[in-house]
Amino acid sequence: KEDILRRGRLSAGPSEEVNAFSSSIPADRWIFRSDITVDRAHTVMLARQGIISKEDAASILKALEKIESEGVDAVNIPVFEDVHMAIESKLIKSVGENVGGRMHSGRSRNDEVATCIRISARQELLGIMAELLDLRMAILNLAGENVDTVMPGFTHMQHAQPTTLAHHMMAHISALDRDFERLADAYKFININPLGSAAFASTGFPLDREYTTALLGFDRPMDNSMDGVSARDFILDTVSKLAILEVDLSRMADELILWSTSEFGFIELADTYSSTSSIMPQKKNPDILELIRGRCGTVIGHMVAAFSITKGLPYSYNTDLQEVTPQLLRSFEITRSSLRILTGAISTLKIKKDEMRIKSTMGFTTATEIADTIVRSTGLPFRTAHGIVGKLARGDGNPSLSEVDDASMDMIGKRLSDMGLTQKMLEEAKDPLKNIERRSVTGGPAISAIGKKIESENRKIKDD
Ligand code: ARG
Repeated sequence: KEDILRRGRLSAGPSEEVNAFSSSIPADRWIFRSDITVDRAHTVMLARQGIISKEDAASILKALEKIESEGVDAVNIPVFEDVHMAIESKLIKSVGENVGGRMHSGRSRNDEVATCIRISARQELLGIMAELLDLRMAILNLAGENVDTVMPGFTHMQHAQPTTLAHHMMAHISALDRDFERLADAYKFININPLGSAAFASTGFPLDREYTTALLGFDRPMDNSMDGVSARDFILDTVSKLAILEVDLSRMADELILWSTSEFGFIELADTYSSTSSIMPQKKNPDILELIRGRCGTVIGHMVAAFSITKGLPYSYNTDLQEVTPQLLRSFEITRSSLRILTGAISTLKIKKDEMRIKSTMGFTTATEIADTIVRSTGLPFRTAHGIVGKLARGDGNPSLSEVDDASMDMIGKRLSDMGLTQKMLEEAKDPLKNIERRSVTGGPAISAIGKKIESENRKIKDD
């Protein structure tokens, strides 16, 4: 083979070891199609500007089409310095240097690669946003089926107050809504066109950057050619937003893992989303949820890697930047597959409503409502009511007593009845569903409030 870069300043080619060290094959494979797209746009623009002839442009476009149809394996990236050189070499081999050798006029791999990454990134981002919509929909369906499925809510991992599964699930949806918005925001920073920056100082060829911007579907050309090749903040921005989304997925996975334990017993994963043990025949393990949780750590690692690689780089292009691309690519891959798998696991989840209901009042979760009821009926200050009910919860000389028996309830009922508290009020305060119905403020778990929220979220998902 002839190395088209090694006939001028350099003569001896790199050893296999050096070549392997400099290449970044997964990222180069990832941008293969984008690179052909960029080649096409650049070529059409060059011809339109009269920088190359229309005939040469036609031959180049034809050859590019063939290269694209033969696919990434046929260009044999590992033999070359990178995918850009692999494609250009194949082009020159196919149409001759007098034609193919003109394509790279007014261009550098520096602006080329930056443009390719942006094109691949925006496609990937749209794919992830579509997966995120599916997940939101799956969770919304689960919420819709469980507006009155009572369960305990937790603070500090202690039973706190009753809530519903719908309220809990809608909490996760709220976080995912913001994640979606963040990704839409990331798109804006990705979709700007660096092509035409060349190595960094632009070029003396009369390029039409507005035209390639339109051809490639970018919002606008980048303002400064040095920024065009140096900037990777769009990657830092996107991986950060992916990391935040991953944290949200991980917290959800973590909760589902807890809920599937014997201690909680709230849910059972479908067999298709479970594993078993090689030794313990009874085991049903949530491995896939553990992987979602674990890989969040990997994405955070990619985010930190991307920041660390970039932070000390002088302007303009340095090959350190090549090392940033795989961090983005891996973060995309992990986030996308995690979204899909979590959507599947949630859509097939078995909810153990009885278990949730039984546990919803364990640990005296209705204490707050009882205190509130005392306030409403007797006019005592909340702090006083808090003290009265807190004493009840502590029990008589038995600090571990967490349930309140009827006798104790009777006692406070009798003492406070003169002030307006009735036995019926107390009974209602002890009913978890009544607790929930009362919490009808905006954002609360009351069936009416959640029902409205589910409707509006349904519309929001359709709009997004
Ligand atoms: N493979 C390189 C990258 O991903 C392309 C640009 C290389 N430019 C250079 N002058 N070595 O960043």
